[in-house]
Amino acid sequence: MTEATVPATFDIYRFDPGHDRVPRYQRFTLDLPPHTPILTALLKIRAELDPSLALRYSCRSAICGSCAMQVNSKSRLACETPIGPELARDGRIVIEPMRNQAVLRDLVVEQEPFWRNYDRIRPHLILDPRHPMPEGRENPMTTEEVERFKETPRCIACAACFSACPAVEADPAFPGPMALAKLYRFVVDPRDQGHQDRLLRIQTDGLWLCLRCHLCTEACPKDVRPSERIRDLKEMAIAVQGGTEHGSKHAVGFKENLRDRGLLNEMKLVRQTSGAVGVLEQLPQGIHIVRKKREVLRAPHRIEGMDEVEKIYEALDRPEEKP
Ligand code: SF4
Ligand code: SF4
Ligand code: FES
Repeated sequence: MTEATVPATFDIYRFDPGHDRVPRYQRFTLDLPPHTPILTALLKIRAELDPSLALRYSCRSAICGSCAMQVNSKSRLACETPIGPELARDGRIVIEPMRNQAVLRDLVVEQEPFWRNYDRIRPHLILDPRHPMPEGRENPMTTEEVERFKETPRCIACAACFSACPAVEADPAFPGPMALAKLYRFVVDPRDQGHQDRLLRIQTDGLWLCLRCHLCTEACPKDVRPSERIRDLKEMAIAVQGGTEHGSKHAVGFKENLRDRGLLNEMKLVRQTSGAVGVLEQLPQGIHIVRKKREVLRAPHRIEGMDEVEKIYEALDRPEEKP
C-alpha cells in the first residue's frame, strides 16, 4: 500500500558568502508522509533538487547534536522533528541556521564561540595534587551525589540553548546556558576540588548576565534545563561569597525588598545594588522615570496579603522545601 503524503512547502535560508551579498530564502515543495523528519526532507531536497544546499548532520538519531537548526523560528533537532505538526501549525516550514553564530554557508554556522565558552568553564575535574585520586581504584559516588547532576550528562552539545539565548545575543561575555549547565555539573561533583574557585570566578565572568527567561530550557531537546542549573549556581555563588558582586547584590536586595513589603522599592534596590556612586550615575535615568511615573516617589507600603508572602519566604528559608 502506498503511504499517504502531504504537500510540504519549505522556505530554506540560503547564503553563500562567496557569491551572495545578502541572504535569501529558496522555496521547495515536495510530497512527503507527515512523519518524515525534517532532516530526511532536506537530504531529499539536496539529493534530488539542489545539491548545493549546505547543512550539518551525522547520527540521524537525535544523539550527536549536529543537525540543530531553526524550524519555524524554534531551535530544533532536524532529525527528530517531523514535518506533519509543523505544516499543520504554520502551513509551511521555514528552515534557518542557528542564531547567535555566524553563518558559514546556508544552514552551517561557525561553532567556535559556543565551544570557546565551553572551554572557558574548565570542563574537567580539577584535582588537588596533594589529594590524588586513589590509583587503580574506583572513586565511587553515592546515588544522592549522582542525583544532583543527573540532567547534565544528557547534554548532546547541540547549541539549541545557545541559539535561543537573548543574553548571548546581547553580550558576547556571557558564557551561554550549556557552558553554565556544565559548570554546575563540576561544581556539585564531590570529586572536583575546584568548586569554590569555580563559583568565585563565574560570579564576575558572566553568571549574572543571565536574564532568567528560561528560553534555553524551552529549546533544549534533552531536558537538561540549563536555566534551572544557572539558578542553582547563583544560589551557590551567594552562599559562598554573599551579595558582593553587582548581580548577587541585586538578587539579595530584590529578595530583601519583597520580604519587607511584598513590593519592590526601586530606589532602595538601586542603592542596594549599585551603592551611592551607582545612584549618582543613574540619576538622569531616575529623573526621567519620576517624570513619567510619579507614584515611585510615594512612601512604600505593605501590600495586602503579606501573610502569604511571608509563608513563601518561610518555605524558601527551609532548604528542604526549595523548588
Ligand atoms: S535563562 Fe538565561 S541562559 Fe537561559 S536563555 Fe534566558 S538568558 Fe539565556
Ligand atoms: S543544554 Fe540542551 S540545548 Fe543546550 S547544548 Fe545541551 S542538549 Fe543542547
Ligand atoms: S543528526 Fe545527530 S542529532 Fe540530528
